[in-house]
Amino acid sequence: MIIQSERISLKHLLSIEALTDQEVMGLIRRGREFKRGAKWTPEKDQYFATNLFFENSTRTHKSFDVAEKKLGIEVIEFDAGHSSVQKGETLYDTVLTMSALGVDVAVIRHGDEAYYDELIESKTIQCAIVNGGDGSGQHPSQCLLDLMTIHEEFGSFEGLKVAIVGDITHSRVAKSNMQMLKRLGAEVFFSGPAEWYDESFEVYGHYLPLDELVETVDVMMMLRVQHERHADGEDTGFTKEGYHQQYGLTVERAAKMKKGAIIMHPAPVNRDVELADSLVEGLQSRIVQQMTNGVYVRMAILEAILAGRA
Ligand code: CP
Repeated sequence: MIIQSERISLKHLLSIEALTDQEVMGLIRRGREFKRGAKWTPEKDQYFATNLFFENSTRTHKSFDVAEKKLGIEVIEFDAGHSSVQKGETLYDTVLTMSALGVDVAVIRHGDEAYYDELIESKTIQCAIVNGGDGSGQHPSQCLLDLMTIHEEFGSFEGLKVAIVGDITHSRVAKSNMQMLKRLGAEVFFSGPAEWYDESFEVYGHYLPLDELVETVDVMMMLRVQHERHADGEDTGFTKEGYHQQYGLTVERAAKMKKGAIIMHPAPVNRDVELADSLVEGLQSRIVQQMTNGVYVRMAILEAILAGRA
């Protein structure tokens, strides 16, 4: 890591744990500056980025698009369904091709955990890699936008109580957030179905019943039920209504949240499952703000990555 005038410089962004606290706080600070209208001073006339999404996405894909365009970076469109992936081209060869074309940064979402290992080990691939989500592994840019949203609200992480609730084992958002929130001094708690909880999370926080947590925490971070990551034909045993009543943030539960506490969700939200429809755009919710902040924190990530190439 190199810090120049408090600016962060990164070679890649692969997992949240690879960042220092200083880098995390620098990216949040820069995201907030971009939100207030700060401008980027590029070192070259032209940069190219490509967003390679092999799993579905609305927020991550499109907010990287917007961030790139706000910075004046040329975006090379890629649609896996109309690319040579359909002829058997591997991820490695797609990225190798983009690198050979002169692309500076590839934002990649892929279903395989740590798909990026073979890309960064390559001596031929020259472009920087930004992980837009790897299976159930990590989602570092979502973590940074979540941290930015919490920081805007509370100004610090020290001593904050944060509940992460729902399908934790399948959630890359939860993995990134539990690690970094704990490191930054927040107290992390978990709740949700026992079958979607793992003892390995105890390093970062403790499991408590939802009705106990809801009255005490500063942040209720609800997670999407990740149907696409459940085994084929797996019977989760929950109806939508049953899940909502047992593990969801109902209107009644939200009414018990302490004054000033906020609701977060990485989205897309299964309305009336993880949280009540009326809460999604309610006063306690920061879900829309999370999406907006995604653009600014991704501008900060891209600036740091391109500084790393200068
Ligand atoms: N939160 C998030 O990653 O959303 P998308 O899947 O729409 O990108």
